Amino acid sequence: MKLKGKVALITGSGSGIGLEIAVAMAREGATIIINDISEANISAAIERVREFDVPYLGVLCNVSSSQAVKEMFKSIMNKFNTLDILVNNAGITINDEKVNENYKKLAEQLLTTGKTNISLGATRNLTDVDWDNMLKVHLYGTFHCTREALNIMEDKGYGKIINIASVCGIAGGVGAPAYSAAKGGIIAFTKAVAAEVIRVGVYVNAIAPGYIDTPFLNTMSPESMASVLLATPLGRLGKASEIAPLAVFLASEDSSYIVGQVISPNGGMVL
Ligand SMILES: NC(=O)c1ccc[n+]([C@@H]2O[C@H](COP(=O)([O-])OP(=O)(O)OC[C@H]3O[C@@H](n4cnc5c(N)ncnc54)[C@H](O)[C@@H]3O)[C@@H](O)[C@H]2O)c1
Repeated sequence: MKLKGKVALITGSGSGIGLEIAVAMAREGATIIINDISEANISAAIERVREFDVPYLGVLCNVSSSQAVKEMFKSIMNKFNTLDILVNNAGITINDEKVNENYKKLAEQLLTTGKTNISLGATRNLTDVDWDNMLKVHLYGTFHCTREALNIMEDKGYGKIINIASVCGIAGGVGAPAYSAAKGGIIAFTKAVAAEVIRVGVYVNAIAPGYIDTPFLNTMSPESMASVLLATPLGRLGKASEIAPLAVFLASEDSSYIVGQVISPNGGMVL
């Protein structure tokens, strides 16, 4: 078992990629802390983790609130008195009907005339609220949890932090400007913090998945899904279980010379 005795917090692990990472880490013997904003998701995730007979804790906390994150870390310290692994995974998407509509028009125009002059209009129509929420959950959430984790990890001289970015943070996701900005910010943050803390034994790396089949993609239009599949050489979506082994690898001693890297399991979408 590669993570026996390690204590791991996975944010947003009530569903999708985070849930598969929690299960994979439990399988490797880690103590698992399931965090989410959905109580139902936490309960369902705990049912999966229980199978592996490892200690666990569920914590309801919105990572976009620095105060709530401080409280979450207090409860983790009260129960386990340490933290070895942090996976910053919690995330949201915007259900942008207007962008979906424009995608449809654009696809129709392309198919009928062979060219298009339609903008998706995502940025000009983006509201302050959507922009703020996106950055708050992804970028601020990653910062809030990393800061608390480093207070523990730097002092003990050991830690593994894994930030879940996205291909959109590397190449830009058309129609998703706020999400791309948040994920690009996470990538730059990963590199800066990695170089800062590696000398005290804390590893920071990022995973930048391509499109993965989770509830996260439920609001995508058929046209944007088709364009994603066409742009993915492997010709299909990824599975959350295809991301989890990479997170286990980055959390284990096997990745002892990997510092500040962005590893992108994406079916060949971004090369
Ligand atoms: N699915 C994809 O195609 C894809 C691709 C690249 C990156 N990602 C990233 O992977 C991560 C996980 O996404 P997923 O596909 O598993 O989505 P998901 O919707 O299945 O899971 C996300 C979980 O995060 C929780 N969450 C949302 N806001 C939260 C908050 N403020 N605090 C705590 N928990 C919160 C949700 O309740 C949910 O359980 C996200 O950061 C996402 O941006 C997803």
